[in-house]
Amino acid sequence: MNLPPRLRFAHLPTPLEPLPRLTAHLGGAEIWIKRDDQTGLAGGGNKTRKLEYLLADARAKGARTIITGGARQSNHCRQTAAASARVGLRCVLALGGDPPREITGNILLDELLGAEIVWTHDQTREAVMQSTFEKEAASGNGPYLIPRGGSNVIGASAYAAAVQELANQLLDGAGSGGGGFTRICFASSSGGTHAGLAVGARAVMPNTEVLGFSVEEPLDELKSNVARLATDTAAYLGLTFAFAPADIAANADYIGAGYALMGDRERETIRMLAQLEGVLVDPVYTGKAFGGMIDLIRKGLIGKNERVLFWHTGGQTALFAYADQLIAHR
Ligand SMILES: Cc1ncc(COP(=O)(O)O)c(C=O)c1O
Repeated sequence: MNLPPRLRFAHLPTPLEPLPRLTAHLGGAEIWIKRDDQTGLAGGGNKTRKLEYLLADARAKGARTIITGGARQSNHCRQTAAASARVGLRCVLALGGDPPREITGNILLDELLGAEIVWTHDQTREAVMQSTFEKEAASGNGPYLIPRGGSNVIGASAYAAAVQELANQLLDGAGSGGGGFTRICFASSSGGTHAGLAVGARAVMPNTEVLGFSVEEPLDELKSNVARLATDTAAYLGLTFAFAPADIAANADYIGAGYALMGDRERETIRMLAQLEGVLVDPVYTGKAFGGMIDLIRKGLIGKNERVLFWHTGGQTALFAYADQLIAHR
């Protein structure tokens, strides 16, 4: 693959580790974890990989102001604020809704990282991102717009490259004991991680299923978004694959009460991972996806003799915004 230019601020390769106590607790499958919660930028997470490529593009285009948007507790926005600070660019974030009463979790970090926050109130995030872009352009501030989740062909390329990183770790013996993984499981939303992993796996790990757990989008919508972005990303990287929605493995059965809403499954998963392995997952993304993977293992839909990888995409900084809901249910 012909990867685009990148900056270097992520801590890579991220660790690849077995989860032996969780594996024993469930009686198989053999579960491993890829620690992209440890990418190193102000709390880490999957967007840090994408931002290495996106900010290289912004720099090449002479940008001085980075604009993006997301939900109130967006990890993408927090990492964009951190990456912008790291490379000396101004950052403006369009965050969903009205300012909250309590400044905590990612919003606190956005502020510490020096981002300027524009609240969307009753407008859509896309509309506010676009109007902010136009305002900054008119003021001569050199704006560069990063789409929701950093999910365009440039951002998704980072996850195609990440599969190559994983393949190298396996070759180096990090997954010793034979073979690779039957599946890679992870949280999927705007689709860039999913699309990049699908492209990378088809290129270097074709026998591994890339199974994204939706945290919000209905199944058909997620599959067609990811197929479109994976096809475009492959073309951008000079690969000749195309993806139909049927080629995308996805599961939308664990959205629970809805986006950013935590239920008993997420709570149980957060405590289980914390207490068996000392690993933190979050209520919005990784707690839902890990909870889904565990349920498929318990139901035998992921076999006891499989070796599966959970690709941890981060989000634990949002835990603090859910403290009341996590503690009240003890
Ligand atoms: C912790 C975490 N996991 C997963 C995702 C989903 O990644 P993507 O938007 O590339 O689908 C996000 C997106 O914000 C996230 O913050």
